[in-house]
Amino acid sequence: MPLTARLKTWLGPRWTTRARCVLRGLPIPWWGNLRRTHPFSSYFGFERGTPVDRYYLAHFLDAHRADITGDVLEVQVGDITRRYGHQVRRSDTIDIEPQFHPTWCCDLATADTIIPDDHYDCFILPNTLSFLRDLDACLRQALRVVRPGGVVLGTTAVLGQMNGDGKDYWHLSAEGWQVVAERVWPGCNVTVRAYGNCLSATAAVMGLATEELTTAELDVMDPKFPVLVGICCRKPVA
Ligand SMILES: C[S@@+](CC[C@H](N)C(=O)[O-])C[C@H]1O[C@@H](n2cnc3c(N)ncnc32)[C@H](O)[C@@H]1O
Repeated sequence: MPLTARLKTWLGPRWTTRARCVLRGLPIPWWGNLRRTHPFSSYFGFERGTPVDRYYLAHFLDAHRADITGDVLEVQVGDITRRYGHQVRRSDTIDIEPQFHPTWCCDLATADTIIPDDHYDCFILPNTLSFLRDLDACLRQALRVVRPGGVVLGTTAVLGQMNGDGKDYWHLSAEGWQVVAERVWPGCNVTVRAYGNCLSATAAVMGLATEELTTAELDVMDPKFPVLVGICCRKPVA
């Protein structure tokens, strides 16, 4: 057996990797208390501060303030319409769960007999897309209820924690959401943007809060590590 093979056998896989990193000048991780199989928070970091994906949600909504106007529909409650909207004429809500007292209490996938066509200027689905079981039907309905020239604004978590209640279905990459958008919204002007990097993704998985990272760290955008994807679909006028 050659000398290197004998050395590897003697060292075992763990120390072989350590030796390889040292010899090649590759950095050695210092895990500290990150070496754990349970996160710091199992509730997205809410009890510590602001969940990391919420930082990127704010980023996305800030960029789309101009679109949140007129007659606005929002999933669950109208918080985002209140915070980011301007010249809002009507603020309505939709949810499948009656506990949120929505304007429209129904499954979005089958809202065609409930919400009229071309009824809103803006429909906001904040951190919702991964929870829509019948995804294509829901997204088609979302476009139907928006007026020509109006927008559907949706965001969804990608890397991070699953909801854990068995109702978290779709964690797609930005490219995956682009494919879905082309399928359900043909002929629309759609932009898909990914937010996050390997550090913020690690923090999101571990349940750490936005406040535990710096703005400079959060603002590095690396499409290989999307924490959140934001989608804007504008309905054609003609
Ligand atoms: C994570 S919440 C998103 C909104 C929340 N304000 C936020 O910022 O996290 C997702 C909401 O979508 C609702 N939902 C899930 N599937 C739905 C469907 N098919 N039709 C209508 N609402 C649905 C859920 O009941 C839940 O209240």
